[in-house]
Amino acid sequence: MDHPSFPLNAWYAAAYDVEIGRTLLSRMICGKKIVLYIKQDNTPVALADACWHRLLPLSLGRLEGDNVICGYHGLEFDDTGRCVYMPSQHTINPSACVKSYPAVEKHRLIWIWPGDPALADPAEVPDWHWNQDPDWAADGKLIEVKCDYRLVIDNLMDLTHETFVHSTSIGNRAVAETPFETTHTDKFAIVTRWMHDIEPPPFWRKQYGRPGNVDRWQIIRFEAPCTITIDVGVAAAGTGAPQGDRSQGVNGFVLNTITPSTENTCLYFWSMARNFDLNNQSRTHQLREGVSGVFREDEIILEAQQKAIEANPDHQFYNLNIDAGSMWARKLIDKMIARETAMPVAAE
Ligand code: FES
Ligand SMILES: [Fe+2]
Repeated sequence: MDHPSFPLNAWYAAAYDVEIGRTLLSRMICGKKIVLYIKQDNTPVALADACWHRLLPLSLGRLEGDNVICGYHGLEFDDTGRCVYMPSQHTINPSACVKSYPAVEKHRLIWIWPGDPALADPAEVPDWHWNQDPDWAADGKLIEVKCDYRLVIDNLMDLTHETFVHSTSIGNRAVAETPFETTHTDKFAIVTRWMHDIEPPPFWRKQYGRPGNVDRWQIIRFEAPCTITIDVGVAAAGTGAPQGDRSQGVNGFVLNTITPSTENTCLYFWSMARNFDLNNQSRTHQLREGVSGVFREDEIILEAQQKAIEANPDHQFYNLNIDAGSMWARKLIDKMIARETAMPVAAE
């Protein structure tokens, strides 16, 4: 069978902290049905969502202490997936277990590692610290998008689309007319665009709160395989922001991490962080809802694009200059997959 379109040896966001607790949450992550919960000591657990006995999803059962009781015949599994109780018998078949996945909570997300557990290093969880940092105010959401996760990555790596998809909020001609620079390493691809001395679009005029032209920046950083942080902001034109002095401006970070669910659906976690007006909770709420509306515009485009791609499986795609960032992102993803297919796969 072909390898899926995503690497398995990577940390993937599985849930926002507010979605998971002392109940059982089922999620499809990289083609695997997984049940998630939080133990009494507040650490997360991720187990295969299928009972060893007759495959009933464990998420239909219940938690007792830190163990899951299957909702059909009552088999009980501990937090490592080992069966510790079988009804009407004293001996427990030692092979009775469900797969458990490495899981950690970091920066308000629950991350899981669907690949070889021996390779899972929590230090490699992508950096989302802005989402939980006293110098930033942040909040976000999960969108379940019916498209290949790479289409979301393409979308974020080329913000030229703001001009055409988001013209009433963050887009204007300056985005599409200003050239950008692309750099990359083995793990990162970075697209930098500086728009000098421009009229800010409505969204940024409001955040900035002052009249006059601005220097606007968008620094998009892709971390393979699917995390993109975008450093965005505006500062009074000519006050040195491009040289590093952002004191006359406002700065945000748009955090994105896109988890493949199946080959043509994904879980898109995002957050909007800002470094100004930090204690204003209503601004945090308004910003989250505003960005949510902007991303709804993307969702409509992405799902329509996915349908069109499926209807035209032989269509050849040509790349434009604006596709440079997404081409690098896809190359880095393909490299991770190639490394994985060359290595022996741990037994399921
Ligand atoms: S299917 Fe779970 S105990 Fe039978
Ligand atoms: Fe967009």
